[in-house]
Amino acid sequence: MSAPFTIAIDGPAAAGKGTISRAVAAHYGFEHLDTGLLYRAVGAKVLLGVDPVQAAQRLVTADLDSDDLRSPEVAQAASKVAAIAAVRAALLDFQRSFARRAGGAVLDGRDIGTVICPEAEAKLFVTASPEVRAERRFAELSAQGTAISRAQVLADVKERDARDRSRAEAPLLPAKDAVEIDTSEMSIEAAIATAIAAIEARRR
Ligand code: C5P
Repeated sequence: MSAPFTIAIDGPAAAGKGTISRAVAAHYGFEHLDTGLLYRAVGAKVLLGVDPVQAAQRLVTADLDSDDLRSPEVAQAASKVAAIAAVRAALLDFQRSFARRAGGAVLDGRDIGTVICPEAEAKLFVTASPEVRAERRFAELSAQGTAISRAQVLADVKERDARDRSRAEAPLLPAKDAVEIDTSEMSIEAAIATAIAAIEARRR
């Protein structure tokens, strides 16, 4: 078994973290965890009337499989429960063990390089302008058949950014040693190549 090697990929909503993380994980043969799904799964349960802390404490991997987790309502609910310290605490051990698993791991989220795995061997902070991110999210939601306006998607992205950045617990911010990648003007291929080049620089 090879030693742990953690790649932490943080950044705001729809900056390209998911696409980059999946490509990086495939490139290195590492396991990937989209940590936003944990908060989305808790948010989805809260929308059904469950207490957020209990939902987080009782979360099981099967809860992460539902397609409903991608909706705008669940995204907003996720960012609200993510501000609760006891919710974050309940999800910590699972993420930490995943990060240090043998064979290598890629985790994407908001606080991977700062809180979950400050010792990560490579840290990226992926950003893009709110307008570009809203346009990408609008295209995704339209493709999945969700009826929503561009203006609403932009307002949602800005609201979630503001909440994620200003919260007291694990706010969204780049780790000091993170490499920042602005994907606003990049193709997917260029963003993936830039990410892999930055990780390679840390592997040497
Ligand atoms: O990445 P995604 O958009 O799926 O995340 C949904 C919400 O979950 C974010 O807006 C954020 O509030 C929260 N989150 C978090 N920490 C993470 C991942 C996601 O607080 N590591």
